[in-house]
Amino acid sequence: MSREIPVGTVDELAPGQRKLAFVEGRCIVLFNIDGTLHAIDDACPHNGASLASGRLEGCVLRCPAHGLRFDLRSGCTPGTGGLGLTTYPVRAVGSKLVMSFDGPSATPAQASTGPAAT
Ligand code: FES
Repeated sequence: MSREIPVGTVDELAPGQRKLAFVEGRCIVLFNIDGTLHAIDDACPHNGASLASGRLEGCVLRCPAHGLRFDLRSGCTPGTGGLGLTTYPVRAVGSKLVMSFDGPSATPAQASTGPAAT
């Protein structure tokens, strides 16, 4: 069953910014690309590198470790299929950012937010 978990506030994620959130033991990276919100696991599916500092080209994020590219809209590598990111629905509800999460609840639904990773 999907749960909605607050992961920050709209003010923390203006267009062009990204931020980290910690949700039930997972590190999530949130992006605001031209007003569209995206949320992904902060772990590259190739070898687990953090993606939080990856370079963005439009909606395509380049892993800083070995350079694989992932489209944040689909989680897939552009054009080739293959490895894919774990993505999550995220939206603004009033002044809050809310992420839908399907994982089992290990603890009461709590999220802590980290500093903006600009
Ligand atoms: S760990 Fe991301 S491309 Fe290798």
